[in-house]
Amino acid sequence: MSNNISITKVEKSRVDTLDFNNIPLGTTFTDHMFICDYENGQWVNPRIEPLALIPTHPAAMALHYGQAIFEGMKATVDAEGNPMLFRPNKNAERLNFSADRMGMPDFPESLFVEGLKQLVALEKSWIPPQDGSALYLRPFMYADEPFIGMRAATHYKFIIIASPAGPFFSKRIKLWAEKKYIRAVAGGTGEAKAAGNYAAAIRPTELAKSKGYDQVLWLDAVEHKYIQEVGTMNIFFKIDGKIITPGRDGAILDGITRISVMELLKHKGFEVVERPISIDEVKEASNNGTLEEAFGTGTAVGIAYIQDIGLNGDVIHVSNESPVGLDINNTLNGIKTGKIEDTFNWMVKIEKVLVK
Ligand SMILES: Cc1ncc(COP(=O)(O)O)c(C=O)c1O
Repeated sequence: MSNNISITKVEKSRVDTLDFNNIPLGTTFTDHMFICDYENGQWVNPRIEPLALIPTHPAAMALHYGQAIFEGMKATVDAEGNPMLFRPNKNAERLNFSADRMGMPDFPESLFVEGLKQLVALEKSWIPPQDGSALYLRPFMYADEPFIGMRAATHYKFIIIASPAGPFFSKRIKLWAEKKYIRAVAGGTGEAKAAGNYAAAIRPTELAKSKGYDQVLWLDAVEHKYIQEVGTMNIFFKIDGKIITPGRDGAILDGITRISVMELLKHKGFEVVERPISIDEVKEASNNGTLEEAFGTGTAVGIAYIQDIGLNGDVIHVSNESPVGLDINNTLNGIKTGKIEDTFNWMVKIEKVLVK
């Protein structure tokens, strides 16, 4: 199909109702959305329309069998106000990886990127310019065929919505190492960004929060000791000068921030090792003074500095400062706002897109 996107604009933008100095998290949405339908084996009718409710049949298969996947990414602006996307093709690839695992159709990568570009160009005035702020973009796909029965759906919707996001407060976080519940196991759906993975994480996350922790630190499903990732982030440890991050074990999400941070760290001269790392090793390193710092990586927060990890009744103290994490965060933010040269060619500029 062609990437010819039809555009219907709102009569009047709501952007002037937003207080850019006080953006509520996840509740404000821009004027428009991108939509495309999958019917008769192909994606048809790519369009940008005013944001509106979507009529849904009560038998829509996503509601029953959970064929629903999503992506998360951000548009930022440089000093001249030109919008940019961070590695959008990586999100397109990951969406299709998730689609494949969940028995859903591929979405054309070029249309994914073009849809994002056109939507962001149209919603340019919604991108918060402050440091650390961005327009969060949420591409997602779900089965909207009304059918009761267990098979792949034949009708889907692919949609992109956008929500302005203020700077994340970079307070140091506390993780709860989860020994009872698991997130994923190799062969399951952990490597896919499937909605169901998040559904199953909600109850353990609520429990961790009730104990005073910010997010769950997921351990492997078999021995309950090897670290996988955090609720919405991948994780890095600095132990005795080396940076260690759990390797892709068939269960963790292949974070785009994770791969970018690995490249940045190597570029800065660090030794980065992808290998299994157990919670016992982290505890031991904390006890013998070799645990220097740890941080989470993800689109929403960027880099989150880890203070402590709760393990059973104990608290593993990580560190009070995260110089490496801080440096990486500054570099990433600098690249995303054009203040640091993008020598990796990660940024995709969208100033040349003409919105009809
Ligand atoms: C479970 C999980 N792990 C890791 C990440 C980080 O991925 P990314 O860096 O692509 O945002 C996310 C965020 O999307 C996530 O939800």
